[in-house]
Amino acid sequence: MDFRKKTIRDIDWQGKVALVRVDYNVPLKDGEIVDDMRIRASLPTIEYLVDHGAKKVVLISHLGRPEGQVKPELSLKPVVMQLAVLLAGKRSRVHFMNKTVGPEVKSFIERVDDGSVILLENLRFSPDEEANSEEFAKQIVDATGADVFVQDGFAVIHRAHASTDALARLLPGVAGLLVEKEVSSLEGAISDPEHPVLVIIGGAKVADKQPLIERFLPIADSIAVGGKIAADGYEASDPKIFVANGFAQNNEGAKLDIDEASANHIIEMIKGAKTIVWNGTMGMTEEAEFSAGSRKIAEAMGHLDGVTTIVGGGDTAGYVESLMKEDKSLNFSLVSTGGGASLELLSGETLPGLEVLQNR
Ligand code: 3PG
Repeated sequence: MDFRKKTIRDIDWQGKVALVRVDYNVPLKDGEIVDDMRIRASLPTIEYLVDHGAKKVVLISHLGRPEGQVKPELSLKPVVMQLAVLLAGKRSRVHFMNKTVGPEVKSFIERVDDGSVILLENLRFSPDEEANSEEFAKQIVDATGADVFVQDGFAVIHRAHASTDALARLLPGVAGLLVEKEVSSLEGAISDPEHPVLVIIGGAKVADKQPLIERFLPIADSIAVGGKIAADGYEASDPKIFVANGFAQNNEGAKLDIDEASANHIIEMIKGAKTIVWNGTMGMTEEAEFSAGSRKIAEAMGHLDGVTTIVGGGDTAGYVESLMKEDKSLNFSLVSTGGGASLELLSGETLPGLEVLQNR
């Protein structure tokens, strides 16, 4: 499906400073990155910009929710180390600047070699980021000397913050390759999917998932509902909705996964489908004992050929990524980096960080 926004491919980058909003909101444990999926997902855009002559590539991101305070444990410094490892094969140097705006940032960016990649400190250390402050956006443009704004933080594109909205009003704003890939795949599953379309919904909160079910009712040929939603007694409103009806339980009787029969039923539904969208785990995947339903679905989807397979939702994508590390034969059309963003896009909501970008 054609992408309706301008992308980095529409810009002549020679000699230009690119300001790239990435989403490096990665899970950390004791200062170590637990999952670098979002960092890896940002590489195609960074490499494209460097390869096409961008003078400097300045990366901005948030990490966690520091609520406008400087919280050293939410510094992006560990991220830059991993980024440097991942870009080691490239000739460009990777730098970290422990501030986001101001004269030190400006002189640092001016000083580093052309072709460098520079990551600035956590945007949310300032309250102005979430306030969508135009003044803060101006300070970022001034400090970085940016010529063009690139939105490649798909996972944060549903927010209207300074780095997703105000900046794209000050500079020409185009999409990066990750945003293009995610939005095209997800919008394609809604507007022009190959049938039969199967939607698999799991997770914990009905309120979060009901808009998705309603949006897909006229599009999908069948819908399967599992996870806590099913365990809590979700009632199907349409004959094409299958709701898991057997569960694996812990000693206290809590239903923490769909049982084998329900999982097998969903596997049969998977077999005939040409487009599959999966959002929400089938059980408590943090515990191996209650991850069997989700594992079966991931393995069935990940071994299909000629089928569009889309995995969205923070927990689901994280779980599938962890399986893909163990089993290299698993393959999906898209494992979305965006939890809330992919859910909102699929549910039909407008994404402010996308709309503000230049149209083709
Ligand atoms: C996410 O992890 O979903 C994004 O990075 C957005 O983070 P937020 O929900 O704190 O805005």
